Amino acid sequence: MAGNINLHAANKAKKDEFYTQLVDIENELRHYKVHFKGKTVLCNCDDPRVSNFFHYFSYNFEQLGLKKLITTCYKNQNRDLFSQNDSERAIWLEYFGDRNGNRVPDPEEIGIHYFKGDGDFRSQECIELLKEADIVVTNPPFSLFREYVAQLMEFEKKFVIIGNQNAVTNKDFFPLIRDNKIWLGYDFKGGAGHFYSKYEDVATAGDHREGMIRVSGVNWFTNLEIQKRHEDLILFKTYNADDYPKYDNYDAMYLPVRQRRLRFQLPLFPQPPARRAGTNPQLRAANLHL
Ligand SMILES: C[S@@+](CC[C@H](N)C(=O)[O-])C[C@H]1O[C@@H](n2cnc3c(N)ncnc32)[C@H](O)[C@@H]1O
Repeated sequence: MAGNINLHAANKAKKDEFYTQLVDIENELRHYKVHFKGKTVLCNCDDPRVSNFFHYFSYNFEQLGLKKLITTCYKNQNRDLFSQNDSERAIWLEYFGDRNGNRVPDPEEIGIHYFKGDGDFRSQECIELLKEADIVVTNPPFSLFREYVAQLMEFEKKFVIIGNQNAVTNKDFFPLIRDNKIWLGYDFKGGAGHFYSKYEDVATAGDHREGMIRVSGVNWFTNLEIQKRHEDLILFKTYNADDYPKYDNYDAMYLPVRQRRLRFQLPLFPQPPARRAGTNPQLRAANLHL
């Protein structure tokens, strides 16, 4: 899309080095506070020395009532925001909260450990930490998003993560949305976010922020209960088979773009179905839970 980093190209090129702003994390996680009491949180794609996820959870540890915070770093051990991933060893940190009463995570309160390997979230060392976690919260590499989500599902973890909205059209991911195993969080304003990055920003002057790239189509995805998913949709039309033809090969129906975008936060199906089959007149368009 013009004016934005092209995420498809970024995925292919494995351009995964863009970093989440604290304000975006705060805006989203304020809706989830009740979930964190007594829980172990894992941020597993986060260099703790630069990650705002680590910052958020370590500074809000007591307020959230956390049990433990684990943060793992991929490859690079240098204190450099734009990691080159040029070290084969990585570190992970654990934090059990403030001990000296100053309400700040001091270096002596943070346990530093070295991985034998490179800190890849798929490695056995990282999987052991994943098993310990109750809730995983991060912005994972978009180029590995499918694998990342598959692992969370395999280990039945609760999570709040950032991803590309195009994920919902993926054949592995879509069933998770359809079956109410994953849903959208509160999201970035206007479906786009600004992230710290070394990549060239092609946003228009009005949208450009120094040292950042504008990424369109970013969403929060979660499987934690949030109020938003229980809010009623405002219905304004009744189902009819002509306006909402059904797909032959998928148990879903087509919603015209304008209605989809304005009224429904639903996956984007780019083409109407070629042929209608098995439409169900009982269904009301807006009652679909895609
Ligand atoms: C989109 S960035 C987000 C970084 C950080 N979570 C944040 O939000 O600021 C994704 C991060 O995942 C790291 N990464 C890439 N491949 C990884 C892997 N296989 N295992 C763990 N982390 C990985 C990248 O180095 C990058 O720092």
